[in-house]
Amino acid sequence: MNILSPSLLSIDFNNIEKNAGILDEAGVKWYHLDVMDGAFVPNISFGPPVIKAIRKITKSFFDVHLMINEPKRYIEAFKDAGADLLTIHYEACGDVDETIKLIKEAGLKVGLAINPETDVWSLRPYINKADMILIMSVHPGFGGQKFIPSAIDKLKQVKKWADEENPDLLIEVDGGINFENVEDVLNAGANVIVAGSACFNGDIASNINRFFGILG
Ligand code: DX5
Ligand code: ZN
Repeated sequence: MNILSPSLLSIDFNNIEKNAGILDEAGVKWYHLDVMDGAFVPNISFGPPVIKAIRKITKSFFDVHLMINEPKRYIEAFKDAGADLLTIHYEACGDVDETIKLIKEAGLKVGLAINPETDVWSLRPYINKADMILIMSVHPGFGGQKFIPSAIDKLKQVKKWADEENPDLLIEVDGGINFENVEDVLNAGANVIVAGSACFNGDIASNINRFFGILG
């Protein structure tokens, strides 16, 4: 039941087709696509045209993580590019409820993320409104950072709320996940695991298989 969502931020874009083929062959069903605007986060990554190009080479579910201010401006653009789920940041939306509503109306699944410094209680009103909650376990913007342990208690709290009122809620964790700490986040309630460097550093297929062995 747990999902692995490899973050393509760490893929070798010079060999994207070959590497996506390795993911798909290994049984990966989700791609985590990190969109950064250089304003909400200090880095710039890629946007709809690149996602549209990747859409042509895989049938995977596109889990699009929008690290951009006022994401409601781009819902249609990411839908047209082939996104299946849009995750927005609580901190980046003037009106979280409206943004969630617009994403649902566009026919996409919706995730809501919080940064490490944001109180988990900010998520309380959205447990029933979102398809997925994303707990950031690093400061968003870059791959390869160290896991921030306070994410564990946040995951436990979200899992408790989900058990009470939305058992289908997807609970994603993103940042610094590796083979040493992935069991800790699973035990805390995460059921969608994002991993960038741990998937793409070294042999991709064996990394993916190793994660699947732990995720069950
Ligand atoms: C960070 C991104 C992550 C990142 C994770 O802002 O949201 O998805 O790619 O990379 P690792 O797994 O290397 O921390
Ligand atoms: Zn991400």
